[in-house]
This record gives sequence, structure tokens and C-alpha cells, in this order.
Amino acid sequence: MKGTFRILFVDEVDSTNEYLKRVPFEDALFVVADRQTKGKGRRGKNWISERGKGLYLSGMFSLPPLPYRSLAGLSFAVATISVIRRYMNKAYLKWPNDVYVNGKKLCGILVEVLRDRLIVGIGVNVSYGRDELSHLDVPATSLLAEGVKVDRRVLAEELAERLVLYKRKLCTGNFCVSEFEKFCPMIGKTVKIIDGKKSPLARVLGIDREGALIVEFDDEEGRRVGRIFSADVSVRIL
Ligand code: BTN
Repeated sequence: MKGTFRILFVDEVDSTNEYLKRVPFEDALFVVADRQTKGKGRRGKNWISERGKGLYLSGMFSLPPLPYRSLAGLSFAVATISVIRRYMNKAYLKWPNDVYVNGKKLCGILVEVLRDRLIVGIGVNVSYGRDELSHLDVPATSLLAEGVKVDRRVLAEELAERLVLYKRKLCTGNFCVSEFEKFCPMIGKTVKIIDGKKSPLARVLGIDREGALIVEFDDEEGRRVGRIFSADVSVRIL
């Protein structure tokens, strides 16, 4: 079933997520900017937002019922990877909601909850050259740097349609974390968990029904299982 949505294409904004916080609520309203002057990443970081080189898209939705809200990022990540894979079938997901290809970040997702609305912001590196991304704090790439040309407008429409579909799945309790796990090669691997002070190693067992990463530590304190929440830490695959 195709969802209905509306997309506004604008020249420049501070951040497409911030733009959607300022306008009256409209379910499934998307905004795409050619450039952002204050593109935001997760955990207070900036998001590179040069004119015409990336897709900077945000969508606004009504709030999902509480039990499913913590899965919003995972379900939007699955919506996103299902579109990106049409262009690049070796793209994969890194928990909680990044799209990677060949160990480099291609796309990031920022979900924000306001009083009456959920906002999902998606940044896809479309045509940056490798040198333009080399100063970023994580290795990054773009579709063009990986040899794929896309039309940003077409990509925006494909993403909006998929995001509407996955928002519906989420709200009706039909989104299952196993869909995310299918695209996530971290499962079963050893990762480094970086939480500021320490960076212990752990084996990823899976993702639970609330969206937390389930990991197994095995160190001098013995073998034990822990739950990692996306807001706390960054996780690096070894
Ligand atoms: C991340 O840190 O990985 C999340 C990046 C999210 C970037 C997108 S670009 C469109 C939207 N507007 C923003 O300011 N941020 C998101």
C-alpha cells in the first residue's frame, strides 16, 4: 500500500529537523533542503550539509504509541536501507541507525520527539568527494564516491514513501527488530563499546524488543549480559 505524504523542497534552512519543529503539525510532511547551515547529527554533533552534495531530508509524524516509540529509529533505519540497497546492495546497518558501506558511513538518522510530533531526519552523502569527507570523525563515503549516481529528488521521494510505510508498521505493532538484524552484520561480532570513560569489548547477541543492543561481556569480572541504549554510547565494530 502506498502512503500519502507531501514534500517541500527548499533552498536553505538551518536544519530540516528544526524547520519541522517550527511549522504547524501535518502528518507525513517532509522537507528537503539543498543546503543546511546548522545540520545536526546525533549526540550534539554537526552534520556536513554542503549545497547539493547530500540529501538533507526530514519527515514529521504523529507520535507512535508509547510501547513502540523506542523502536522508531530502528524502523526508519530499515526503511532507509531498503531504499539505499536499490542503488548499492552491499550497504548495511550499524546499530542504532547508521547506514554503512565498506566500513564507511554513508547515511545518518536523527529521530527527535516533541510534544505532539516525531521528527525523523535523514542525511545521505550523495556526491561528496572522498577528500571532502576525510576530516570527519568517522570514516565516511558518498554514493558517488562508491560509483553510484542518484537523483536527489527521486531518492527523496523513494525515502518518503518508505518512511511512511515503516511509520505505519511501527504504529500498528508490525515492525519487528529482526528486520533490522537482517541488515546488521554486527550481530555475533565483537564490538568496542565507547562510553566516555571505558571502552570494553563485548560480543553482540542481538537487539531486544525495546531496541537495546544485547551484548555479552567476558572479562576479569566474568561473563555477563548487558543492554546498551543508543543514547549512551557509540559502538565500533572491530
Ligand atoms: C547522525 O549523527 O548520524 C545523524 C545525522 C542526521 C543528519 C540529518 S540531515 C537532515 C536532518 N537535519 C538535520 O539537521 N539532521 C538530519
